[in-house]
Amino acid sequence: MTGLLVEGASGIATLAGGLRRGGAQGDAGVVSGGAVAVACWEGRILAAGAADEVSRQMAARGLPINAFRRFDARGGLITPGLVDAHAHLLFAGTREGEWQLRARGAGYLEVLAAGGGILSTVAATRAASDQELLAGGRARLAQMLASGTTTAEAKSGYGLDVATELRLLELIARLGREGPIELVPTFLGAHAVPAEFRAGPAAAGPASARPAGGPDGTDAYVVNVIDYQLPAVARQGIARFCDVFCEQGVFSADQSRRILRAAADNGLALRLHADELAPSGGAELAAELAADPGAGPAARRGCLSADHLGAPSEEGIAALARSADAGTPVVATLLPATSWFLGRHHFAPARRFIDAGIPVALATDLNPGTSPTLSLPLVMSIACVEMDLTPAEALAAVTINAAHSLGLGAQIGSIEPGKQADLVVWDVPTLEQIPYWLGARLARTVVKRGVIVSERG
Ligand code: NIG
Ligand code: FE
Repeated sequence: MTGLLVEGASGIATLAGGLRRGGAQGDAGVVSGGAVAVACWEGRILAAGAADEVSRQMAARGLPINAFRRFDARGGLITPGLVDAHAHLLFAGTREGEWQLRARGAGYLEVLAAGGGILSTVAATRAASDQELLAGGRARLAQMLASGTTTAEAKSGYGLDVATELRLLELIARLGREGPIELVPTFLGAHAVPAEFRAGPAAAGPASARPAGGPDGTDAYVVNVIDYQLPAVARQGIARFCDVFCEQGVFSADQSRRILRAAADNGLALRLHADELAPSGGAELAAELAADPGAGPAARRGCLSADHLGAPSEEGIAALARSADAGTPVVATLLPATSWFLGRHHFAPARRFIDAGIPVALATDLNPGTSPTLSLPLVMSIACVEMDLTPAEALAAVTINAAHSLGLGAQIGSIEPGKQADLVVWDVPTLEQIPYWLGARLARTVVKRGVIVSERG
């Protein structure tokens, strides 16, 4: 039997019809009000919608009903499997101690400048064995799956040297092969300037007295990323994207541009941590790199996603809007759990993006410093409460738009014939109730490539 027929649902939020922006961001493509079904065959969607029409499609293909496993959704809603487009999956250690520092008034970038923050996770990750990193990754992936995630981006970025960055990418590839969550590997060598570059001869004074990655150490590290790390990552052939933490006091827009151009030359698609805490030219840079002139027409590489965007400039918003209008959209991948966890209320201006016609995605930003969550439904809740997204807009943001931000819009993110059969059956009958029940575990059944991979009683 290579078929799965899901019946008895309250409705289907298909998200059919491509990338969502502007008014269409809130169109979840809901089919309800009668018997509905989703038929999956050999891992792909065969048909979805009114049950009698789905039966006709099966018959037209010569597929008898007894070739399908029949599954009763018991009145739950069916959506596409969720797509987490921004996740720092692999790391060692935890950082709950930073609460103490913050209570004493230290900002996120101050902790980093003093050699803590990201750099403490780098030290723990370099020291961890493959087995430890894999065990942590597996435990997190299990929780993501139970929350409805069927595809996730996975960044390196806690190695910050050639050997550890390659090791993290290799472990990500291994976890992706294990499944069932499909992983999209991203190289994030430019996540911070590592201690050995900060302590270099060019810098004067104790590390704690210097600004984050003082100019000399940062430039030398940018050269290291471009000349050593990127070519090695390209030779390894695992990473699909390159990302940079473009932020005042971390990597400037100019440094980020140099790294991302080199990454495109090495065949990688691009995404960017942009303007999280202060306007840093990140949104402008993402728009500038939206179309990679080196890529052929079949594969748009360029910059597909600008992430965070808590503090974009007016020009940055306008530039992203122009890219979307020009047919080379950069998805604004917003990470409200991070804004919330940092407690500084730097929520991205999501409504302005939607009004400007910029496609919006939402992601967890899973990481040990600023967003220790694995749950996209929780992220949807925060987005609805703090950024005034509607539940339908938030659902498009964690499905079809997130898929497009990963360059996978033609394969996943919606329930349409021919696409990969990644589904969630929810414990609630409407899409509005997914973000409504704060922190609840509502993903009852998860299907990946036509196979039930997670089920709760
Ligand atoms: O997206 N902002 C930079 N990177 C991560 C945080 C990583 C960390 O603090 O360990 C983020 O929030
Ligand atoms: Fe991040």
